[in-house]
Amino acid sequence: MECPILPDFSADSSPPAQSPGAARRRLVLLISGRGSNMQALVEACRAEGWPADVAAVISSRPDAAGLDWARAQGIATQAVSHKDYPNREAFDAALAAAIEPHQPDYVLLAGFMRVLTPGFVARFAGRLVNIHPSLLPAFPGLHTHAQAIATGVRVHGCTVHFVTPLLDHGPIIAQGCVPVLADDTPEALAQRVLQVEHLAYPAAARWLAEGRVSLAADQRVDVAGNPSRLFMLESSR
Ligand code: GRF
Repeated sequence: MECPILPDFSADSSPPAQSPGAARRRLVLLISGRGSNMQALVEACRAEGWPADVAAVISSRPDAAGLDWARAQGIATQAVSHKDYPNREAFDAALAAAIEPHQPDYVLLAGFMRVLTPGFVARFAGRLVNIHPSLLPAFPGLHTHAQAIATGVRVHGCTVHFVTPLLDHGPIIAQGCVPVLADDTPEALAQRVLQVEHLAYPAAARWLAEGRVSLAADQRVDVAGNPSRLFMLESSR
């Protein structure tokens, strides 16, 4: 099935709001597996000339396919295996120790499959961003595509959000949506959602890199230039 990408309603052609000589922002990406979101972020950062650099890709699994891809791109990589630590606190301490030397402005979770401790989240508060494969607040946690099919929702998608101690919650930066089709399997739906993830996450990361994202007192996100922050696919059937 073809799912043509409709115009990016969040696209805005304004140039990066960077003054000459402004420091480039540093991004650290955390992965656990194939890393297609990480790849979309790296490629968009380079192709679109964001005022940012991917300083490192760190994986919770040494065998993550995404690590090989990042290494081949000349990006610093590291594995911090959760299996090497007795508990979440020890793992998160090791993870933070791996991240900190890269002095990130933002830590972007891109298919990072570990639940982070409140201490870790507090340490990187306001700099920690995740992509979740559902239209939050619907379907936090795992198996989101199966849940979407089981509950009969007609629209599903992804959410890019700041990470808070509550799992799969937090101020929303961008969302992407796709239709749920009558004969969808979780796998087919996941594949469709992934297409819109690869639009929404790079767009949100670019806004972060450009220094355009802020949090209002009510914890809602504001993006300078006021893009719609909604990405869509539409089935051709
Ligand atoms: C994505 O669907 C992401 O939203 C979820 O896990 C999946 C990771 O895919 N958290 P990839 O590793 O980015 O290809």
